[in-house]
Amino acid sequence: MSSTLSELPLCASEDLLERGAAHVFDVSLWGEPARAFVLRFDGHVVAYMNRCAHVPAELDWQPGQFLDQDQRWIICAIHGATYEPSNGHCVAGPCRGARLMGLAVSERDGQVYWYPDRNIQPTSTA
Ligand code: FES
Repeated sequence: MSSTLSELPLCASEDLLERGAAHVFDVSLWGEPARAFVLRFDGHVVAYMNRCAHVPAELDWQPGQFLDQDQRWIICAIHGATYEPSNGHCVAGPCRGARLMGLAVSERDGQVYWYPDRNIQPTSTA
């Protein structure tokens, strides 16, 4: 029986600079290959599926670059949907009011961990 509560190490805390580049990683979303990302915002690590709430396209304008020029918002490179990094809510753009699909993450002793759930699982080749 596989547990849905086990934690998986994702990256070192020091890899995630405040409002810096994200760590992007492969997952299985509903059994299909997909990608997720984790970044640091206001000191906290936050993680979401790399999947816009408007059209299920990847958000980053360059690999690992999710924040806008002012490093204030997560912004979709396709049509500019703007998301609040701390909770994934879309505050402007074509999917305003929707939200990014979040992943549970935590940080302890210099290490960032991810907690897979029913929908978002590790890839079988990871
Ligand atoms: S696909 Fe992201 S705003 Fe349209």
